[in-house]
Amino acid sequence: MNNLTTQILTADPTGFAAAAQIWQAGGLIAFPTETVYGLGADARNDTAVAKIYDAKGRPSFNPLIVHVDSVETAKLYVEWSDLADQLAKAFWPGPLTLVLPLRKDSAVSKLVTAGLPTLAIRVPAHPVARALLTEFGGPVAAPSANPSGKISPTTAGHVEAGLSGRIDAILDGGACGVGLESTIVGVTDPAILLRPGGLAGEDLAAVLGYTPASHKDADPLVAPGQMLSHYAPGAAVRLNATDKTEGEVLLGFGDMDCELNLSARGDLVEAAANLFGHLHRLDALKTAGIAVAPIPETGLGKAINDRLRRAAAPR
Ligand code: TXA
Ligand code: MG
Repeated sequence: MNNLTTQILTADPTGFAAAAQIWQAGGLIAFPTETVYGLGADARNDTAVAKIYDAKGRPSFNPLIVHVDSVETAKLYVEWSDLADQLAKAFWPGPLTLVLPLRKDSAVSKLVTAGLPTLAIRVPAHPVARALLTEFGGPVAAPSANPSGKISPTTAGHVEAGLSGRIDAILDGGACGVGLESTIVGVTDPAILLRPGGLAGEDLAAVLGYTPASHKDADPLVAPGQMLSHYAPGAAVRLNATDKTEGEVLLGFGDMDCELNLSARGDLVEAAANLFGHLHRLDALKTAGIAVAPIPETGLGKAINDRLRRAAAPR
C-alpha cells in the first residue's frame, strides 16, 4: 500500500472534523501527542488496525496503545482499579500508559492487544490530540508514526518523510514537547515499570510510594518480550498445510476449500484483520489440530507468519 495521497490537515475545527471522518471510515491518520506523533486508527476496526501494521511494515504484531479522551472513556475498555485511579489522577492527561485487564465486553480489536488479556491505554495531554479524540469520540490505537525500525517522529515533517503515500493524512500540530515515548506501567500490585519514558521514574515512585521493579525482573506474563508467546490455541497448529488430515480443521488463504478463510481473495491486510478472530473460532471447535494454509512472506504476511509460528511452537 504505497499509493495513497497523504493529506496534510491543519490543527483547527475543519482539520479535526476531517480527521474524525477518516477514522470513522477506517483510515489512518498521524497526529501529534505530547510524546511523539502517533499513527492512529479506530481501535475497534480490525481492518483499520491491520493497516497500521502494514503502513509501518512491522514484522510482528506488537500490541498497541489505545488513546482516549478521558478516564470515563478508558473505563469502557479496561477493568479499572484504585491504583489505576491514583495514577490517572496524578498523571493524566500526560505521558503515562497504564496496562490493565481488558474488559470482557471491550469492543477493542484483538489485533490491538495481539490476543493478550490486557490493554495499554492512555489519555494524551497534547491539546490537538485531545481535541481530535473528543471530536472522534472513540478509542484510537496508535503506535509511533514511523516505519518499523526507524526513529520515532516528533514533527509532521518526520512523519511525512517516513510514511507519505502509506497513510491517509497527517494532522500537523507542530513539534512534540516531550519527544520521548510514554512511560508504561503494569497496574498490578505492586506496579511494574514496563518501559521507561516521558514521565520521570522519580515522579512515578513518589505517587506509588516505592520504585517499581522493571519488567526484566518482574512477572514475565506482562513483559513485552514475552507477550507474543502468550496466546496459543489449545489445538496443535500445523503450518504450510495444503490439505487437512484426520481431526484437523483448515484455516485457508486464497481461493480454497476450508473451514475458515483468512482472505479468499488473498489480501494480506484482510488476512491480518481476521487472524486472531479466526484462530479463536477454530480453537473453540476443540478439534485436535488446526492446519493453516501457506501465507506469502511479503508485506503483512511476515507479521502473520511470525504470529503463526509462535502459535505452532512446541509447548
Ligand atoms: O508515547 C507513546 O507511548 C507513543 C504515542 C503515540 O502515544 N506510542 C508508542 O507506541 O510509543 P509504540 O507502539 O511504539 O509502543 C507501544 C509499547 C510497545 O513496547 C508494546 O509492547 C507496549 O507498548 N504494550 C502495548 N500493549 C501492551 C500490553 N497489553 N502489555 C504490555 N505492554 C504493552
Ligand atoms: Mg515505537
